[in-house]
Amino acid sequence: MEIRGRDFLRTGDFTAEELGLVLKRASQMKLAFKKKEPTEQYLADKSIAMLFQKPSTRTRLSFDVGISQLGGHPIYLNWGDLQLGRGETIHDTGKIFGCYVDGIIARVYRHADLEALAASSPVPVINALSDEFHPCQALSDCFTMIEKKGRLEGLKIAFVGDGGCNVSQSLAEAVLQLGGDMRIASPKKYSPREELASELRKLAKKGAALLITEDPFEAVKDADVIYTDVWVSMGTESEAEERVRALRPYQVNRDLLAVSAPDSIVMHCLPAHRGEEITHDVIDGPRSVVWEQAENRLHVQKSIMSLIL
Ligand code: CP
Ligand code: NVA
Repeated sequence: MEIRGRDFLRTGDFTAEELGLVLKRASQMKLAFKKKEPTEQYLADKSIAMLFQKPSTRTRLSFDVGISQLGGHPIYLNWGDLQLGRGETIHDTGKIFGCYVDGIIARVYRHADLEALAASSPVPVINALSDEFHPCQALSDCFTMIEKKGRLEGLKIAFVGDGGCNVSQSLAEAVLQLGGDMRIASPKKYSPREELASELRKLAKKGAALLITEDPFEAVKDADVIYTDVWVSMGTESEAEERVRALRPYQVNRDLLAVSAPDSIVMHCLPAHRGEEITHDVIDGPRSVVWEQAENRLHVQKSIMSLIL
């Protein structure tokens, strides 16, 4: 099980056992952080490029801080400021990055661009979100679920809303790999592609099931975790009106929560659009774990970087 030097473009790039190793180290790192113990300098003398094509608050900040805490040097680069914006190819850019840095954290629109970057660069690439996947978010969310529920295996997790978005797809992949039951409720038009759904079913741990439904109440019935994300993801702004109309019945609110398990928790990757995909009272209510969920990004990403880089 050698994780060092590998790319992390989706959780399926790692086996369940390897993901378990990342989670275990994240837990140790979080404990050390809370006890204010000195952080092991896994990235000493290393420079890490953070190449972003889309806006970010949590991912940018948590990677930047995490790299610094591990003794490394983060370099934030806006895609549009590079020669990429003037037509230099991703292929050439990836090779050039390999001359200077020890790793690349990249947030892009097209997942294929991330694959091209990973293929051309000799240093590992970590996906900080693409249109298809958000693996660091998903693995970190599994960490939060295990913290809150003591396990992932056998847990019922319901994603309600834009089921075909990056966060939903990566969450389903990670949860199924780690043995949880995943339910996705969204209108057919916004469900994961059929090929991806069957790929995810193949990756699932024995006994873990994927349900895709148009009925939010079916997905949330007795669920231990209710998860949602914005209806209008970055890059889909031109469809905003249509999306909001179609997704309105998929709002996470008090009525929907009422059919979940009595001790269910509510998660959201953030940023949230209160009053759209989630109501104020639910995101600010006692079941919401969204702030700890956001904090855990730091610990899990530090673990990922310490093992890969
Ligand atoms: N959840 C998440 O990735 O947030 P940002 O877009 O702010 O990084
Ligand atoms: N699905 C959202 C996630 C933001 C972290 C988006 O892509 O905009």
